[in-house]
Amino acid sequence: MIYSEIIKKGSKKLKKNKIKNPYLDTELILSKVTNKKREEIILNINNKLKNKDITKFQKYLSRRYEKEPMAYILGYKYFWKSKFLTNKSVLIPRPDTEIIIEETLKYLPLDKSKKILDVGTGSGCIIVSLLKERPKCTATAIDISKNAINVAKTNAKLHQLENKINFINIDIDKYKSYNYDLIISNPPYINSIDLKRLDDDIKFHEPMLALSGGSDGFRVLKKVILKSKKLLKINGKLILEFGHRQKDQCSKMLNENGYYINQISKDLSGKDRCIVCTKL
Ligand SMILES: C[S@@+](CC[C@H](N)C(=O)[O-])C[C@H]1O[C@@H](n2cnc3c(N)ncnc32)[C@H](O)[C@@H]1O
Repeated sequence: MIYSEIIKKGSKKLKKNKIKNPYLDTELILSKVTNKKREEIILNINNKLKNKDITKFQKYLSRRYEKEPMAYILGYKYFWKSKFLTNKSVLIPRPDTEIIIEETLKYLPLDKSKKILDVGTGSGCIIVSLLKERPKCTATAIDISKNAINVAKTNAKLHQLENKINFINIDIDKYKSYNYDLIISNPPYINSIDLKRLDDDIKFHEPMLALSGGSDGFRVLKKVILKSKKLLKINGKLILEFGHRQKDQCSKMLNENGYYINQISKDLSGKDRCIVCTKL
C-alpha cells in the first residue's frame, strides 16, 4: 500500500472514534513507523510501505483509535524549548505549565546559583527546562512514583543534567531537606467530580497519581504549601500551578501560613493558573 492510501484509510478509522486530529495523527504514526520526518512522508506520498511496517502501523493506529495520547505512542513531547521522553508513568507535559517556567525565570538571576526543589517532577520537564536556562543552579526533584523518577532521570541524562539534579522517589510528606531558595510544583489538583469529566485520552491513559487531588482537588496542593514552609529559606519563593477554580483556596492557605503573594498569572486560555509567593 502507498503512503497516501494508508493516510486516507488510517485517518478514516480514527475519525470513526472521534479522534480530534485524525490526519495529523496518522501522518505522525506513519512517520514513526518509517523513521522519516512528516515532511518527507508528504513529499513521497506515492512511496510504498513495506509489509512488516504495515503491521507496525496498524498496531500504533489501533492504540490511537483506543484514545491513547500521541505522546505515549510516539514516546515524546516537546515542552518549553526541549524534547522530553514520555510514557504511561508520567503526565504528558502541557503548554499551560510553561507559565511556571516563565514566572520562575523572573526570580532566578542568570548569574546566581540557587538551590531549587521540584515537587512531583513527573517527566522532569519543569526542572530540566529551568536548569537548561539557569546552568548555575542545582536542584532536587522528588516524586511519589518510582517509575516517574526513572523517566525524569532519563530526561535529565538526555539533556546532560544528570549531575545537576538529585532525583528522589519520596512522598512530599516524608521529605526532610531544608534551605531551598525556590520550590516549584505542579501537583495533581483535579477533584473527583472533574476527574470523571476529563477526555477519555486523559482519564483512561494518564497516571491517576498525576491527576487526582482527592475529593476537593486540594489534597496535594495543601501538603506542598504546608511542607514548603519548612523547606524554604526565609524570603524563599514558592511557585505553584493550580486548577483554575483554586485561586481563592490557594491564596487563603498561603496567607494563613505566612506567605506573601507576589503574583498570580493566567494560562494560555486566560484562566488563573500559577501563583508566586514568598515565605516571610
Ligand atoms: C501533575 S503531575 C506533574 C508532572 C510534571 N511536573 C509536569 O508538570 O508535567 C504531578 C506529579 O506529582 C506526583 N505526586 C503526586 N503526589 C505526590 C506526593 N505526595 N509527593 C510527591 N509527588 C507526588 C505524581 O506522581 C506526578 O508525577
